[in-house]
Order: sequence, then C-alpha cells, then structure tokens
Amino acid sequence: MEELVNDKLLEDRNATGSDVASPSSSTSTESSEVKRKLPRKSLDVSGPVKPYHPRLKNFWYPIAFSTDLKDDTMIPIDCFEEPWVLFRGKDGNPGCVQNTCAHRACPLHLGSVNEGRIQCPYHGWEYTTDGKCEKMPSTRLLNVKIRSLPCLEQEGMIWIWPGDDPPTPTLPSLQPPSGFVIHAEIVMELPIEHGLLLDNLLDLAHAPFTHTSTFAKGWTVPSLVKFLTPASGLQGYWDPYPIDMEFRPPCMVLSTIGISKPGKLEGQSTKECTTHLHQLHVCIPSSRNKTRLLYRMSLDFAPVLKHIPFMHYLWRHFAEQVLNEDLRLVIGQQERMINGANVWNLPVAYDKLGVRYRLWRNAVDQGDKQLPFSKPM
Ligand code: FES
Ligand SMILES: [Fe+2]
Repeated sequence: MEELVNDKLLEDRNATGSDVASPSSSTSTESSEVKRKLPRKSLDVSGPVKPYHPRLKNFWYPIAFSTDLKDDTMIPIDCFEEPWVLFRGKDGNPGCVQNTCAHRACPLHLGSVNEGRIQCPYHGWEYTTDGKCEKMPSTRLLNVKIRSLPCLEQEGMIWIWPGDDPPTPTLPSLQPPSGFVIHAEIVMELPIEHGLLLDNLLDLAHAPFTHTSTFAKGWTVPSLVKFLTPASGLQGYWDPYPIDMEFRPPCMVLSTIGISKPGKLEGQSTKECTTHLHQLHVCIPSSRNKTRLLYRMSLDFAPVLKHIPFMHYLWRHFAEQVLNEDLRLVIGQQERMINGANVWNLPVAYDKLGVRYRLWRNAVDQGDKQLPFSKPM
C-alpha cells in the first residue's frame, strides 16, 4: 500500500511551478508576506467559465436514476449546453436523443412516449431511441434522423457518453460498498458551474462554519484539519473527522461517513465507527452556470428506515437544507469569479483534494495526454 502523506499539496504546487504558501493571515504585514512568497499562482480559476474542452465529454456520465424513468415518461436534461431527452424504447432500454424536433424545433419532452417512440406534441412526429423518425402523420414519411447519444443502464443509473470519441466498453461502478442499503436518490438542478460544486463537495474544512444548522451543528473547530491521501491519489480520509472521500473523474464524489446515528459524528476514523452513511454526488455540467446534481445516500444500519412512509421526503428536505447552506456561498463565489476573482487564490493544506481535482481538470482542459492522479480503468 502506498504511504499516506499530507504534504503533497505543497509538492504539487512546486511541481506546477509555484512557491509554497504560508498559512493565511489577516494582518496587512502578513498578507504581503504571503504575497511575497507567491510570485506565481499555481491555480487560476477566474473569469467567465470557458467553453468546455471536447475531451471532458469523452467519459460516461450517470445522468439519471433508473427508477425515475418509467416506460412512458421522459426526462429532459441539459448536458454540456445541449438539450437532450431520455426515454425508454420498446425493449425497455433507455435512449437519449436531442430534445429538439427535426420538423420545427419543438421540445420533444413536452410530448409523450408511444410504444417506445417519443412523439412530438406539435405535429406528432415519432422518434425511436436511436433518433430515427418512424412516423410523420398527415404527410409522406421522409428519411429523418435526429442526434442520439450512446446510452446504457447499469446498477440503477442511466449513463450517456456525450463525447465524439467511441465510448469505452465498460462503465465504472458507483455502488456503495457491500452491506449498504440505498435510502435516497435525489436530483437537483443548481444555478452554479459544476466545477464550483465539486470544489465545495471536496472540502470538509468549511463544515463547522457553513453547516451550523444541519449536520455540523455543535461541531468544534479543530486546530488542524488534514486530508490524508496516497501520494498519487484522488481519495483518502479526513483527519480529525471519520470521513473517507474520493473524487472519481469526471465529476463524482464518493464519501463514507462514520456515525452513531444520522447526523452524529463519532470516533476518529471510519473503521472505528460501527455505523456509516455512504454518499454519492454526481455533478453533471448542464451548462456553464448550471449543474444537475444526482445524490444517492446509503446506510449500513437501520434498513427499516427504508420502509417508513414519507421518509424519502425527509431525506430530500435534509439534503436540500445542507445544500442551501452551501449554495448561497458558492453563488457568491461564482459572481466574483465571473468578475475576475480567483476562487483558488490561496489554497492551504486542507484544500488538497480540491486542488487535485483542479489539477486534473486543468490537464483535461489543456488536452494533456496523461491525466494526473488517474487510475487505470
Ligand atoms: S415540430 Fe415536431 S412535429 Fe412539428
Ligand atoms: Fe458544504
């Protein structure tokens, strides 16, 4: 096993040609000291979000939960600034086609699904899951096909491949570890760029300041927060919290939290805790200022909770409360970023995982052949 280290942030920063930052401070003398030691910034995430690099599209993206897509329903989604719609074909398999009718650009999701074909609500043209138009009522059938994306279903999620490269044959697994039962699957549309949401989710140090009305109520502020990780990894654990966390490219965060009962932290490491909560966050880049968030929560205790009526609403309410505590801050960051502020102006030691995500994302955006921290699939 690789040695766990906690100074790699500094090494990473050196590796990218930057000097090491001192801990942040509030006095003007110390601030200029920090500035003096930072002649160049290692990370610059400022200004309006740039158009997405085509390479970021060459991944499988889990885009919806299977249970939300019935035989006769449609799910409209935006992904990389394009409108798509999911529906099930006659064989029950999901498909993803452009959400724009070939005839006169009507949104298809306002229509219906008939025998595995999506029917446009305007003049009734019908398309299969691979985009072929099979019905044009009241006129001669033309040979028309709209765009479709590779679309698969695995482990309770529907995945699409938005890129131009051929899709990889296998999908990654996002299942919780064995012994966990899924209790909630929640989808939210958020008015922030997905990278900013990932930055937020990969940061735990903000919890005792931001989440004072929800899960971090009553937490003391530790004298030191660290994220311990293998030297080359995108996963590790938080000290002093019993929380394991991983960034899974291109846009997923998995975390396991040791608890005694929901909302209560206990012990020093997840292994010392007898009960755990597992979370999956998928941050889909809908557009440059919108994210589709898929959240899945699992527990390795109290399976009976799953059968309590309306429990799902409670989980959703709690998830929204937590997210709202973050959102007002991240929306503010986004506004400042668009106006030129660098949201990664001065990373410190506990920002390690977020910094690594940004190094990975920068490499994608620059078209680097070898992506940092990437595990072979
Ligand atoms: S716009 Fe869709 S059938 Fe006319
Ligand atoms: Fe948060």
